[in-house]
Amino acid sequence: MDLSEKDKKYIWHPFTQMKDWEAEEPLVIERGRGNYLYDTEGKRYLDGVSSLWVNVHGHRRKEIDSAIIKQVKILSHSTFLGLSHPPGIELAEKLINVAPPGLRRVFYSDNGSTAVEIGLKMAYQYWGHKGENRPLFLCLKEAYHGDTIGSVSVGGMELFHEIFKPLLFNTVKAPAPFCYRCGLGLEMDSCGMACADELERLMSENSGKIAALVMEPLVQGAAGIIVHPEGYLRRARELCDKYNILLVLDEVATGFGRTGKMFACQHEGVSPDILCLAKGITGGYLPLAATLTTEDVYEAFLGDYAEFKTFFHGHSYTANPLACAAALANLEVFENARTLKLMPEKEAALEEGLERIKKLPHVGDVRRKGFMVGIELVKDRKTKEPYPPNEKRGVRVITEARRLGLIIRPLGNVIVLMPPLSSTPRELKTLCNITEKSITKAMQAVSNGRAPGSK
Ligand SMILES: Cc1ncc(COP(=O)(O)O)c(C=O)c1O
Repeated sequence: MDLSEKDKKYIWHPFTQMKDWEAEEPLVIERGRGNYLYDTEGKRYLDGVSSLWVNVHGHRRKEIDSAIIKQVKILSHSTFLGLSHPPGIELAEKLINVAPPGLRRVFYSDNGSTAVEIGLKMAYQYWGHKGENRPLFLCLKEAYHGDTIGSVSVGGMELFHEIFKPLLFNTVKAPAPFCYRCGLGLEMDSCGMACADELERLMSENSGKIAALVMEPLVQGAAGIIVHPEGYLRRARELCDKYNILLVLDEVATGFGRTGKMFACQHEGVSPDILCLAKGITGGYLPLAATLTTEDVYEAFLGDYAEFKTFFHGHSYTANPLACAAALANLEVFENARTLKLMPEKEAALEEGLERIKKLPHVGDVRRKGFMVGIELVKDRKTKEPYPPNEKRGVRVITEARRLGLIIRPLGNVIVLMPPLSSTPRELKTLCNITEKSITKAMQAVSNGRAPGSK
């Protein structure tokens, strides 16, 4: 039995309709090098989504490879419950040094969903310790915070979350400041601040009941790269202060340079009370997450043993030493390779490459912040009428891109580009050129009645 047959026989892939999967030939990635992936046939692909938004400095980055190999020879795992270890301690200090001011404590876990889950439980219990019952979370429509039940509860993506509704806890949902498709029906300019006004109305209406506002700062990734208008986050922080609500920022996707600064909230000079990190934390090598918080939140949990103010949460692989070693090396590469300093120049190259895509007849909107790009395909540019899901326009485009040597993933009708920060201007140009060709070719194929992926 070859690998692809075994895959189909034994595996259930995430976010995948397995009926379609079984009907297709799977792409099996065997190795990676730099900003490229190679399949089992030796074909090379540009990694246009940073292996699901995690890769930062490319594959097989020698500094990170060496750090993991070195750590393997010392200690691969030991629990963080009641014990500690050097890489976990060193990394916590480094994270606090790069984090926005005010964040002073690091609570580890191992993926983005749990980083958020922890943030929610921390916020809820914090108010309990303060003698207040605050059973509600305020969150944004179209938000995505992961797939565990708590994270889904504060999420707002109907497609992923509808089925689980009966299992979810109550939240208050504010409109996402999505100016291209304003939920309040407003024009671009007035949309963002009207959404912030609505946020204030909901805070005031539920005063004393909301534990925290939970949001992705600046960019709602999985919703289709919704880029918030400037000032929205700052206003959200001011409102949280005014109504005495904690601000939980989910930087699982936006963190570690993705938007051009180490953390997205730094664009607006905002510090959250709780910051959730994962994905890029290890440079895309190993699963690790961290939930950072303030001394104020931390101190609320201090007390005598029998008071049971302890934060009762933890995972078997919390702060895995190999992952912490990778994360330390990742932060070192940020410094040594001047990753953030090089971003403006690279962003300009990416923007230039997107110019032609913006003019394509099937493209309604191109949204970008840093190295997060969403290209929304529409049936009608004027009315913004979307393509019906059964036409699988996004899937058709990425299938075409694969043939041309580029791996990208769609979110419905939105084509997402999320290249590693180590991408060169030349690679960014190739990324845009192949994307442009793929959109044109896939759209022509639909007009000619051909199936996705057919020649
Ligand atoms: C903003 C955000 N939060 C949380 C998550 C969940 O992270 P994970 O897939 O590591 O659980 C994601 C994943 O895409 C995300 O984009």
